[in-house]
Amino acid sequence: MTTLPAAQAQSAVSSRTEYEAALQLLRDASRAYYSGGDSALDDAAYDQLRHAVRVWEEENPAEVSPDSPTGLVADGAAPVGDVAHTTRLLSLDNVFDSVGLIAWGASVQRRLGNAPQGGFTVEPKIDGAAVAARYREGRLVQLITRGDGSHGEDISHVIGQIDGLPEQLTEPVTVEVRGEVAFTQEQFEKANEVRLAHNAQVFANPRNGVAGTLRAKDRPYRLQMTFWAYGAVELDVVAYLPAGATHAQTLAAVAAAGIRTTADSAAGLHIVGDLAAAQERVDAIAAMRAQLPVGIDGVVIKMNDAAEQAAAGVGSRFPHWAIAVKLPAVERQTVLEDVVWEVGRTGVLAPTAVLAPVEIDGSTVTRATLHNPADIRRRDLHIGDTVTVYKAGDISA
Ligand code: IVH
Repeated sequence: MTTLPAAQAQSAVSSRTEYEAALQLLRDASRAYYSGGDSALDDAAYDQLRHAVRVWEEENPAEVSPDSPTGLVADGAAPVGDVAHTTRLLSLDNVFDSVGLIAWGASVQRRLGNAPQGGFTVEPKIDGAAVAARYREGRLVQLITRGDGSHGEDISHVIGQIDGLPEQLTEPVTVEVRGEVAFTQEQFEKANEVRLAHNAQVFANPRNGVAGTLRAKDRPYRLQMTFWAYGAVELDVVAYLPAGATHAQTLAAVAAAGIRTTADSAAGLHIVGDLAAAQERVDAIAAMRAQLPVGIDGVVIKMNDAAEQAAAGVGSRFPHWAIAVKLPAVERQTVLEDVVWEVGRTGVLAPTAVLAPVEIDGSTVTRATLHNPADIRRRDLHIGDTVTVYKAGDISA
């Protein structure tokens, strides 16, 4: 849970001084988004301020700062390291409902000239951070963030802190495995307990916590995270996977070597024949979302056959052979109405926020834990503040 002081939800920029202050606020907020720091702006306030900056830049073209975030990829904030990726780490295109999924199916069919014959896989879209893990002869030698997709940061210092990514595989394989690192709900609660014990501010949500934890080098404590592989590519020109392996076979080979994959997640990896069956799986995964041990923000559908994937091809940012069906956001703003002492789920008495009721992903949230009084002070919370509430699984936090 993070605060949003009302003064920062700015909708207009009217002077050069205000413009420069707004650029700084945008830079700080987007750096926090990609690097896991604490941001004073939630997504909506960020978008509003960014829009105000763009309006001012359009009206004052001669005064536009050459490094304004509005002109840069990912607002220039995704930390880009110096490790070149073997092949680009792509993102995913999104749809939001069955109509979007059908439209994606039609575009695939146009590219291939016929409906895919090899079927589709359906797996959860884990809400964490993308990581490439390089194994040489079975040993985990390097971890790299996505960065801008062509270069990432070396984060090998977190080797040993990630369940599902063993330092030694059961086979002496050389391969680069790609997947998502996230906190499970349990790991997230534990991480925040450790943070409180070290007088550090609790993480606003698991995704933000993971982004920061992957990059942190100087913390006096270690936090455990979890990896789920969703792909693998060749490393050092060593053939690892049989030519023409399907997506499901690739993940099965990775799992056989000892790495956790999305197929091992509670939502699993299912192979279906067509997009109607894929939509049924999307609905089933959406229905189990609140009970899953890790946060998901969508469901990913991929063409299973390697030759058909190659025929569909890749665009500048996304492969044409995969699509994410996004699920509703689990964060919303509301007003802090009161703070009371309540006994939490674990039997511990904790200050609890009483909130103006908000509907988040199908349930009405009216309470949120505030952990302890020191945390309230660190966040500088006051009754009447607008706050961002994050709903974790089937409980609110
Ligand atoms: S596939 C070439 N599968 O979502 C295909 N991505 O918003 C690349 N993600 O950058 C990605 N779960 O970090 C894939 N089962 C999954 C995923 C997944 C989470 C992340 C990934 C990607 C981002 C796109």
